[in-house]
Amino acid sequence: MGDMDNRHLAFGQGMHYCLDAPLARMELQIAFRLLLERIPGLTLALDSDSIKWRKSTFIRGVKELPVRV
Ligand code: HEM
Repeated sequence: MGDMDNRHLAFGQGMHYCLDAPLARMELQIAFRLLLERIPGLTLALDSDSIKWRKSTFIRGVKELPVRV
């Protein structure tokens, strides 16, 4: 998987660590692979420093992610 050095908390931690993290990872790998295969030129439409993030302490995510092909 190559992500063993990536000590993020997206799947929780400890005894309640996400039971299906491997499934979620596999789904996302397939989804992103197919997305990039089908839209090969897909790229960000803005500078990565300009991405606006949600103001939430609970769920981290972008407000929007403009792309161009
Ligand atoms: C990107 C997708 C996912 C994210 C970000 C995610 C995130 C998390 C997080 C943060 C927890 C810990 C909650 C806590 O500490 O109370 C958790 C627990 C859990 N997740 Fe996920 N999850 C994802 C996908 C899935 C999928 C696809 C399944 C099942 C099909 C799943 C099943 C579970 C279960 C059963 C637990 C409870 C584990 C326990 O309490 O021992 N998750 N998940």
